[in-house]
Amino acid sequence: MNTVAQAWDGPVGAHWAEHQDRYDAMVSGFNDALFAAAAIGEHDRVLDIGCGSGQTTRLAARLAAHGSVVGVDISRPLIERARASTGHARIVYELGDAQSHPFPPAAYDVAISRGGVMFFEDHAAAFTHIGRALRPGGRLAFICPQPPEPDGEEARTLGLLGSLTGQPEHSQAELRRAMGSLSEPARVHEVLGEAGFGKVTVAPVVGSTVWGRDAADAVDFLVSRAGTGGSVSPRTRAAMEDALRPYETGRGVVMRAGVWVVAAVRP
Ligand SMILES: C[S@@+](CC[C@H](N)C(=O)[O-])C[C@H]1O[C@@H](n2cnc3c(N)ncnc32)[C@H](O)[C@@H]1O
Repeated sequence: MNTVAQAWDGPVGAHWAEHQDRYDAMVSGFNDALFAAAAIGEHDRVLDIGCGSGQTTRLAARLAAHGSVVGVDISRPLIERARASTGHARIVYELGDAQSHPFPPAAYDVAISRGGVMFFEDHAAAFTHIGRALRPGGRLAFICPQPPEPDGEEARTLGLLGSLTGQPEHSQAELRRAMGSLSEPARVHEVLGEAGFGKVTVAPVVGSTVWGRDAADAVDFLVSRAGTGGSVSPRTRAAMEDALRPYETGRGVVMRAGVWVVAAVRP
């Protein structure tokens, strides 16, 4: 297992599992765009790649009301959390590396992923493998981050918070690099083309990310994942709260971030 996979199967995955609701609040603003691209039909057999604690898996099962959904993830803590959160006969979670997991051939109508496909070591090989699991005409839909705009709300604020805590948002350089591995649309077209997918579209979507109930609550969360041992000085904490206060709304601390919504078809 490489460093990125170890992080997901270890402390990073454990943090996502422990803070399932917060992470869902951070990324669920992109659900509508993901599911619009996936166009899940009520009889579809769906594969959720890097399903994490399973929010999108469960939403997919609602859309595939007479179908079935398999969520696959490399992270033990997240698969355990997904299983604990789901009591649904049409949903199965499998622990495995989606790059090599023994999916049955041509078994799925659609594969989705909310931010789980950037972490592959070899994207073209991984998408080739996933393509074989789709029936001919089967669809792939995923979201992945756009390159951070230095002046974007989320990038600017997280950069500032990182400089205050002395830690970048992800303390592991490999994880940060992997997060951005599909941030260039040309790269997405290249790897999906190599993997044999057609009708590839890459569309920008800006969504709201919710970081906490208020600035103090968001700081608690950010400090817990900053790798500073869960604490910062009162001065740093106050500066972090000041940086987040402009984003306090009636719905919590809300920032805007951009993702790509990618859709493709297995010929
Ligand atoms: C950013 S999280 C997103 C989780 C989930 N899709 C969500 O939106 O809440 C990325 C997920 O991809 C999983 N992942 C990373 N590499 C993977 C791989 N090679 N095979 C399967 N899952 C993987 C991680 O364990 C993690 O759950």
